Amino acid sequence: MHYGGDYNPEQWPEETWHEDVQRMREANVTMVSLGIFAWSRIQPAEGEFDFGWLDRVLDLLHENGIAVDLATATASPPPWATTAYPDMLPQDENLSTYWPGSRQHYAPSSPTYQRLASELVRALAERYGAHPAVVMWHVNNEYGCHLHYDYSDNAAAAFRDWLRTKYQTIDALNAAWGTNFWSQRYTDFAEVVPPRKAPYSHNPAGMLDFRRFTSDTLLGLYLMEKRILRDAGITAPITTNFMGAFLPADYWRWAAEMDVISDDNYPDPNDPDAHLGSAFSRDLMRSLKPDVPWILMEQSSNALNWRPTNAPKAPGQMAALSMQAVARGADGVLFFQWRQSRSGSEKFHSAMLPHAGVRTRTWREIVGLGAELAALPELPAGQRDASVALVFDWENWWALENPDHPVVLDYPALVQRWHAALTRRSVQVDLVRPTDDLSGYRVVLAPQLYLLTAAAASNLTAFVEGGGSLLVGAFSDVVDENDGFRPGGFLTQLGPLLGIWLEDFGALVPVEGPGSGGPGQSAAVVEFEGGSATGRLLAEEIHLDGATALGSFAGGRLDGRAAFTVNGRGTGRAYYLATIPDADGCGAIADVVLSAAGVEPVLPGLPADVEAIRRGSVLTVINHGRDSATLDLPAGTDLLTGEPSGRRTLPPFDYAVVRVD
Ligand code: GLA
Repeated sequence: MHYGGDYNPEQWPEETWHEDVQRMREANVTMVSLGIFAWSRIQPAEGEFDFGWLDRVLDLLHENGIAVDLATATASPPPWATTAYPDMLPQDENLSTYWPGSRQHYAPSSPTYQRLASELVRALAERYGAHPAVVMWHVNNEYGCHLHYDYSDNAAAAFRDWLRTKYQTIDALNAAWGTNFWSQRYTDFAEVVPPRKAPYSHNPAGMLDFRRFTSDTLLGLYLMEKRILRDAGITAPITTNFMGAFLPADYWRWAAEMDVISDDNYPDPNDPDAHLGSAFSRDLMRSLKPDVPWILMEQSSNALNWRPTNAPKAPGQMAALSMQAVARGADGVLFFQWRQSRSGSEKFHSAMLPHAGVRTRTWREIVGLGAELAALPELPAGQRDASVALVFDWENWWALENPDHPVVLDYPALVQRWHAALTRRSVQVDLVRPTDDLSGYRVVLAPQLYLLTAAAASNLTAFVEGGGSLLVGAFSDVVDENDGFRPGGFLTQLGPLLGIWLEDFGALVPVEGPGSGGPGQSAAVVEFEGGSATGRLLAEEIHLDGATALGSFAGGRLDGRAAFTVNGRGTGRAYYLATIPDADGCGAIADVVLSAAGVEPVLPGLPADVEAIRRGSVLTVINHGRDSATLDLPAGTDLLTGEPSGRRTLPPFDYAVVRVD
């Protein structure tokens, strides 16, 4: 179990480093991420490296038994580099330059940036590849975090190359993008530009390809560095820190290239449902590489600096969220950062060692958590504990982000709504791609799978035919991989499986925003045996074509029409929901599907804010609520106290970790 944080000794005099390591030992720190933003200190000029200070830090950490996740430091180029090579600066959609003075001011496609970054990584690999302190390599930092998209000439040239490789001929691109629309037909790849500022909507297939290109380009930078490290003979695991469900990078594709997944997560302590959002991110990280425990690479010990209001974490909340990560598959809990900075933009950002020193609650909680994690035995890994899978697909997200749809949909928020409903029911869930092997699951939920490939459709169909229960949500199976309609209407691939056909999408008036006070219908109530669900955004006109209606719209323009259907196929069931349910509605619909499939909660009857998670034989129960909760835990051993488990009262933010007999 790794415990530690980003360590930025370049911000401090050497005397402070000695105090740092002493305090790290006091807190049971096992690993630090070193030098993430130290490029200008490591390389003061082109061709010149200053390793003396870094040698001393690495040796000091090693002498004190603290391992290092060594950064390649390529996320913030030094001023000498951008002054000498302004062509490496990125540009926005108006071709306005992102200037230096902050961080991440490099164009990912810039050959100059790539050359300079490679030189730095090569030098670090040669010098520290065999250093005994270095147990992991931390490539760059949060690729794409601030600068989601680059539209510079470097990006344009690279985008054209990417398109040439993908399509081979300009005719193939024209066909895929449907460029006969609005006179967009190209005669040469050289005519294609990134989606820079234009009078009106860009070609949606072009937008989709630009997002694919951007994700591939950022991944290409990671692979460039990884190759240099491996060529230098480094065998230690290599990672780069993810940011949960992050639009610009398709982490499913990235995950295959990571030795270990690491993630940065900053829930808002002011949000009473913060633990539900973080539960989703943690499940996503585990699901990206299920056999290898992931690492929570960054979180905050207390308040942040970058929200309009940066509330402190409540007493115990930091530890509760840390244990949630461990429960959901992490073998490491790290923070940004070890010691609170005295200058720079992040001086108000909390740290493991606060500016106010060791007399603080933050420090006490950091030391307390370090001791607890150090006492934990090795936890099971690679178990498949979930019988429910929730589809989360980046390509689909990108396509849904295109404008000009019946209604604006926030895809990750809608998927998270289902995840939250399951979490509140203590039902364990994995995130999956629609093309993944689904055979281990009883239930698969696929909300808003607008872009559906033929391979995904046949995989979902095979899942149902093999006995699984699939719930497809409204606005699914609408377009192909080029964001174009398939011939023959909608639900062209899943319609026969679902036993329905779709006539129209039926946008509803948004609940908030312009128009909400008007006469339009904003909610679509679905009534079914034993319950009801309120739908928003869409109330689709569907027609039964073999399916049975489990529920119908009650009131509104579709009064009495089928809204929630089921169709048997093989030994499985294919459900369809013709609207987008609110939070309670997700729960009510999930209850129907889960109980028919015989899915059990991890622990029944828990209060809503108490979560229970299995990690193989280990059960973790965490009280995120504001009231104490008394629970009967299954027989086993409490791994934090060594006592037999049984009836326990958990005050707010307390938890129990039990190895079940
Ligand atoms: C990100 C970065 C860190 C730091 C934190 C602050 O996660 O990786 O360097 O800026 O945000 O929350």
